Amino acid sequence: MCGIIGIVSSEPVAERLIDSLKRLEYRGYDSAGIATIENGSLSRLRAEGKLINLTNKLAENPRLGTIGIGHTRWATHGGPSEPNAHPHQTKLLSVVHNGIIENYRELRSELEADGTVFESQTDTETVAHLVTREMSSGRPPKEAVQQALARLEGAFSLAFLFDGDESQLIGARRGSPLVVGDGDGETFLGSDAIALSPFTDRIRYLEEGDLAVLTRHCIDVFDELGNPVDRAVKRSTSKSHYVDKGNYRHFMLKEIYEQPEVIGHTLGSFVDLTTGKTRLPASASIDFSSVKRMALSACGTGFYAALVGRYYFERYARIACDLDVASEFRYRESPLEDVDLALFVSQSGETADTLASLRHAKAEGLQTAAIVNVDESTIARETDHVLPTLAGPEIGVASTKAFTCQLMALAALSIRAGVARGRISEAQEMEFTKTLQETPRLVNEALHLEDQIDQLSREMATKKHALFLGRGFSYPLALEGALKLKEISYIHAEGYAAGELKHGPIALIDDTMPVVVIAPHDRSFEKTASNVQEVAARGGDIILLTDRKGAEAKVVDEAHTIVMPRMPEILTPIVYSIPLQLLAYHTAVQMGTDVDQPRNLAKSVTVE
Ligand code: AGP
Repeated sequence: MCGIIGIVSSEPVAERLIDSLKRLEYRGYDSAGIATIENGSLSRLRAEGKLINLTNKLAENPRLGTIGIGHTRWATHGGPSEPNAHPHQTKLLSVVHNGIIENYRELRSELEADGTVFESQTDTETVAHLVTREMSSGRPPKEAVQQALARLEGAFSLAFLFDGDESQLIGARRGSPLVVGDGDGETFLGSDAIALSPFTDRIRYLEEGDLAVLTRHCIDVFDELGNPVDRAVKRSTSKSHYVDKGNYRHFMLKEIYEQPEVIGHTLGSFVDLTTGKTRLPASASIDFSSVKRMALSACGTGFYAALVGRYYFERYARIACDLDVASEFRYRESPLEDVDLALFVSQSGETADTLASLRHAKAEGLQTAAIVNVDESTIARETDHVLPTLAGPEIGVASTKAFTCQLMALAALSIRAGVARGRISEAQEMEFTKTLQETPRLVNEALHLEDQIDQLSREMATKKHALFLGRGFSYPLALEGALKLKEISYIHAEGYAAGELKHGPIALIDDTMPVVVIAPHDRSFEKTASNVQEVAARGGDIILLTDRKGAEAKVVDEAHTIVMPRMPEILTPIVYSIPLQLLAYHTAVQMGTDVDQPRNLAKSVTVE
């Protein structure tokens, strides 16, 4: 999703703007641009596509300005072209924007009726012209921005640079995140702390409705009523988090291989490894003894983690769980009076739909908790209880290690809840936590299957469609396996509960259809085995993920069988994720796609 950076300095800023934009690449984008002041006037460079195109333009047209703004754009209104790239500019100002101006059509018509000529198809350009109109009627920049903001509906963060003014930048946020940072004789603003990490670790998070005026030596923040306010300075840890690919070809592969370690770290915050007892991290104090019903909500991979969580909480803690994709939670108008805890799952902690759901739950008076990977994120700051996953920065757009850490957190939490509700005895708790501690070793074993999966991916890369099937704990994994494959290889893939096959999708099966079946030898194995036979009878090309016992059952003769280690049921969603991730990864590599930044996708989806 769009990334913003702004710098007020006494040194040239252009290269630093682009360096910062590189750190925001992980969010996903399709064009980029910067604006600086050169010899007293606004000057902008924009390019469609990757940042290298902007870097090349800068090399041909060096910029020496000491104040500037930069942007990576993920197209919403208007295609990914140079005219639609930010900054958008008038004779008086340049602006960059993250979010959506929902009433832009109405504003645009009003401005056009006034004689304004638009150069782009974006919603952002309306903001540039609105502020320009205010300034043209004699208002100073801050007042003009405030007047214009009052006209905007939607979610946004904005940064403005003014023609002929090398002294100040103005930033504002409503709905989308914006941080400001103090350096030595220079100041910064950006979409997140990572954007500012090369320059400063002294960060202030702007709150809803805030406006900030940045000059070289200070940052003045005003709330939505225009009153000066102090926002606490935090020491950001993002600096130490700057990551590279190491010896790996892609971030995604590196992150897949980090899983044994980060799953172990995450386990450590939910289980006291010396006593074997479950616990809550210091940032949470949920009393599960009084929780009978929970509402779970998340998006994408986080949603599939929450679906596994529902199976865990219902089975191990006997807590009834409602589950919604976050973009539907607010609109379903479900009665929430009986819900004792609303639990959200998010890697980035900035997903607009999940954040809106969290705010909805709070407005309904619910106690809220969030499993979140970025500890400085908006969701982490707004929820009552924070349940951190310790996956570290996840750069690949396709979530891997964050997912398995979410599963580990959910598994441990469900045991904690079961103990608190008297459903799990102390002895059983010890048994469960001993089992959970086996996960890093088992994940490591699963990683050894990479060569075999690489071979299978060569065939998968020739296909146009794929089906993923699973039952019980493996059903959410079928959905996640299909999502992983489609988002990075662009092969159309669908996940189904294995028992649903006969209710429709079986019509798709012929000898061109690969069917990935996730079937550990657990309580539902025999039933899934029957579904596998139904696929085989219709010529489907089966990839069977099972364990030794499942393989010995010789369900069908022709399946490609990936033999996983044996493990207790609670661990299967975590460990069986590994071959699914590797299959998607190697298929995408075979197909030559942009694995870490697949087309059309953003890492952090900050629009609804
Ligand atoms: C996963 O591979 C995705 N790219 C995507 O579905 C993601 O899980 C979703 O956008 C939610 O993001 P979050 O966890 O940061 O809230």
